[in-house]
Amino acid sequence: MSIFSNPSFSEHELVAFHNDRQSGLKAIIAVHSSELGPGVGGCRMHPYGSEEEALLDVLRLSRGMTYKSALAGLPFGGGKSIIIGDPHKQKTRALLEAMGDFVHSLGGRYITAEDVGTSVADIRAMSQRTPYVAGLDDNEHGGDPSPSTAYGVFLGIRAAVRHLHGKNSLDDLAISVQGLGHVGFRLARLLIEDGATVYGADINTANSERAAAELGVRPVNSDEVLFLPVDVVAPCAMGAVWNQDSISRLRAGIVCGAANNQLATPEDGERLRRRGILYCPDFLVNAGGIIEAHHQRQSSSDSDRLAHITRIETTLAEVLRLSGERQVSTESVAEEMAEDILRGSFRARDGANRYLAA
Ligand code: NAI
Repeated sequence: MSIFSNPSFSEHELVAFHNDRQSGLKAIIAVHSSELGPGVGGCRMHPYGSEEEALLDVLRLSRGMTYKSALAGLPFGGGKSIIIGDPHKQKTRALLEAMGDFVHSLGGRYITAEDVGTSVADIRAMSQRTPYVAGLDDNEHGGDPSPSTAYGVFLGIRAAVRHLHGKNSLDDLAISVQGLGHVGFRLARLLIEDGATVYGADINTANSERAAAELGVRPVNSDEVLFLPVDVVAPCAMGAVWNQDSISRLRAGIVCGAANNQLATPEDGERLRRRGILYCPDFLVNAGGIIEAHHQRQSSSDSDRLAHITRIETTLAEVLRLSGERQVSTESVAEEMAEDILRGSFRARDGANRYLAA
């Protein structure tokens, strides 16, 4: 298993592996960049098929977090952690506390939070061993980020619809949502309130039944939800949904959803562009949750928090405009913007150091 020559290694600052014999914890923490602040990102627990798969996931996710925080204007770097194991069978108190010790051993270079396979309660268990946690639902550390994530994605969909159709509302539009969990359910509600007809699927039938009963979401098959003849497709389940095959089957003009790392490979952003599909980069539109976490830690006012989340709409509008103008994928434009922000920070820091040295 290679690290420095791994295709997903992207100048990461730190990749740490931990094996705790007593609890059985096998985990990796990756900090991609701490240029703008400590690496902040969730802890994912998943029964990875191989160690290579786990490493690839943590490398890609931590890099995405760097871009997400930079584009959102947050004082955070990019980090992520993974625990190799089945969250339904292998999660124990001892394992979570050992993970807390692991996070603590990095002395604050990485701050953890909930993610797929971990809950607020799990992060609270880790917090018994380290203060380097975010997203606990108490006043000190903030609560569930999903409503803000859903709101950011909703704003992204509105910006994309305005760009493509020149419309300011979602009236008469058809939108399909894959995954009606924490984010997807709330997104569906916002879309319906704004006039859209929403189709949705969830492999957990209790979630799709609830969305149908409470919101009027029209249930569809999980295998078809990404390929319906709708205006917008919103992936809100797992990553890597867009590859050569799935892109060729897409029938929507806009893709905008919360799931992280939706593109299976970097080429898939260009594939979407060449098919004339407006792809809204996930790390840009799903930043509402981390913006929320930041403002809760700062105890900001609701209006400051909302104004910050609303910037997702203007940043995305700029990305879509530049992508059309330069004929490059929206993913490349958004990454370039994030890298510019990071370089700006490098310049500021080097300038400051020179000043201090003088
Ligand atoms: P969640 O676990 O609450 O919901 C995901 C839902 O997708 C579950 O109900 C699951 O049954 C369903 N699902 C899984 N595979 C599916 C498939 N093939 N077809 C249909 N449904 C499927 O997760 P949450 O919090 O709603 O997050 C959704 C996505 O957004 C994840 O990729 C997450 O990483 C990402 N995200 C979430 C944020 C948040 O604030 N919760 C922040 C940024 C990104």
